[in-house]
Amino acid sequence: MNKTLLLLLLSVSVFAQKSFKIASPSDQISIQLTQGADRAVKYQVFYKAKEVISASDLGFTLKKPALELRKFQILGVDSTTYDGTWKPVWGEVKEIRNNYKELTVHLKESGVLLDVIFRVFDDGIGFRYFFPAQDNFKHFIVDNEWSSFTMTGDHNAFWIPGDYDTNEYTYQRTKISEIDALAAAAKEKDIAVTSLMGKNFVQTPLMLKSADGIYINVHEAALVNYPAMHLKQEGFEFTSALVPDAVGNKAYAQAPFNTPWRTIVISNKAEQILASKIILNLNEPSKIKDSTWIKPQKFMGMWWEMHVGKANWPLAGGKHGANTENVKRYIDFAGKHGFDGVLVEGWNQGWEDWFGNWKEEVFDFVTPYPDYQIDTLTKYAASKGLKLIMHHETSSSVTNYERRMDAAYQYMVDKGINTVKTGYVGKIIPRGEHHDSQWMVNHYNRVAEKAANYHLMVDSHESVHPTGLHRTYPNWMAAEAARGSEFNNAPTLGINAEHTTILPFTRLMGGPMDYTPGLFHMNLNQFDSTRTTKVRSTLAKQLALYVTIYSPLQMAADLPENYEPRLDAFQFIKDVAVDWDDTKIISAEPGEFVTIARKAKNKDTWFIGSITNATARNMSFDMDFLDPDKTYEAMLYRDADDADFEKNPEAYVVEKRLVTAKSKMTFRLQRGGGCAISLRRLN
Ligand code: NOJ
Ligand code: CA
Repeated sequence: MNKTLLLLLLSVSVFAQKSFKIASPSDQISIQLTQGADRAVKYQVFYKAKEVISASDLGFTLKKPALELRKFQILGVDSTTYDGTWKPVWGEVKEIRNNYKELTVHLKESGVLLDVIFRVFDDGIGFRYFFPAQDNFKHFIVDNEWSSFTMTGDHNAFWIPGDYDTNEYTYQRTKISEIDALAAAAKEKDIAVTSLMGKNFVQTPLMLKSADGIYINVHEAALVNYPAMHLKQEGFEFTSALVPDAVGNKAYAQAPFNTPWRTIVISNKAEQILASKIILNLNEPSKIKDSTWIKPQKFMGMWWEMHVGKANWPLAGGKHGANTENVKRYIDFAGKHGFDGVLVEGWNQGWEDWFGNWKEEVFDFVTPYPDYQIDTLTKYAASKGLKLIMHHETSSSVTNYERRMDAAYQYMVDKGINTVKTGYVGKIIPRGEHHDSQWMVNHYNRVAEKAANYHLMVDSHESVHPTGLHRTYPNWMAAEAARGSEFNNAPTLGINAEHTTILPFTRLMGGPMDYTPGLFHMNLNQFDSTRTTKVRSTLAKQLALYVTIYSPLQMAADLPENYEPRLDAFQFIKDVAVDWDDTKIISAEPGEFVTIARKAKNKDTWFIGSITNATARNMSFDMDFLDPDKTYEAMLYRDADDADFEKNPEAYVVEKRLVTAKSKMTFRLQRGGGCAISLRRLN
């Protein structure tokens, strides 16, 4: 315990009967803890002396032993400071500073010892609960966690409905007081909305903006052995709503036990929210000692053609996409253009009755269809300098997957395949667990850990919202865990023009997303004239997403035949990096626009992505992040003057400009549009 600091704290900030205050390293953010006469301990958060989170609750109701841990005896406090830097295995920047002050409050109630640990950073806070090892209290079941986040007004909120099983929703923009998750979900004809939590429940990351321009992001970090936190809204207060298991319990725990961190990122600049590293910093360092086998990748896939009806997953029906010849076609194209991988879905037996029947034994993950010559294909891929990417659709029969994981991963190793895309479509069987429950959280983490033992990289779909665990398991490269590009083909709402301007402020706060950008053919009736679905984005915006949606695993999602006629635009996808030395958030506003510049790892090249919602706008910014005294060749892939995401989405212009650090970059984003720029330093 740092006694001097503690005395200082107590002497300067004893307001009420018991009150402790701690400020961030440069005093931007502070937390005040106060114990009232009722013995409840509440926390408040201030941004530059302005209250941002007003008195909010801490505590638990336990089910077993049945205990209320909401009023406490304060046994003492400890404080400490940390300042260090670390290097991610891959990331948006090459080095991350972790600098905070920490305050631990030691509490006791009904004989149970409980600590609350607060970390205060210059761009927000994190807090978690810790049940230390103690006599007479070991195993317990959490009924409710009462952490709350009380806003100071009726802020603008960017949210999706609380749902135990899916996060693939369209984002809503309302005042806090207008949150109506049932009404929002009722509009969603595109997903099975069977696990809604109720009218006033939302998911995290929740993005808020106050009337006086303070941006507040609420989420969690290091979700390990605990259910996901969703939030219940009442007035301006959001309270933790943990996802239950099949019988209604929230978490089974054993002291010593840490909960995940509850995070609040705060700034008066939207750009700073996107630049925050709090969530990564609150995760444990990598558990993978030798990470040389982990490689950011660009890949193509025998995938979208099944979504748009050219081919299909099952062998039966005569449209089997994963046949040797067709996959060779992808390998040829991807190999010719320098990709690292080709994803193949529908390669393994079971797709005839995976959906709707919800049988426990569907896939064994080691038996290819007879027309899919896996050995021929892995060899062929290797001859073209790439690898196949394995697909494991678990059909949410997760106990079946758990039983088969070792054999499935060994099979991948034997075939020389080092990346797996997992999927959890449907209801988790056999027990009826929820996708976001403790049991499933443990499953996803076990997959990351086990895959690491086999030196495999993971891309999970339909998994729980990410919480920065890619620091601890850098082989867990990406997750979908939000409405991804596949929804462009959904019959009703699909993906609206603002969706990708909200994702960075919500879903992406927790980690990389396998969004699968790069669609060039926007009218999705190409192979099935009955389809009315359309990609609601310009082509240039599809390119810009490779920069604005961060992921070390990026797919070029469209078909070779749709890229072939536009190789000039495709060049950007070929060139764009997937691992970075540096990232500059140039300008951003949730729901409106996002412009990001990133410097490629160990290279003198920069890439810029700029996107807008349904509003056209002129962009203009300084290029002062470039090396001074050097000239760069900028290739702009921008919306044509007559481009429009609804009327003329595929019109683009490729244009060369010379720029320096003194230049201003200007371009126009058309409605639903974007601009992608690659910058090469000239000698
Ligand atoms: C949903 C995934 O998000 C998608 O990418 C995949 O093709 C299907 N499930 C089938 O597994
Ligand atoms: Ca999905």
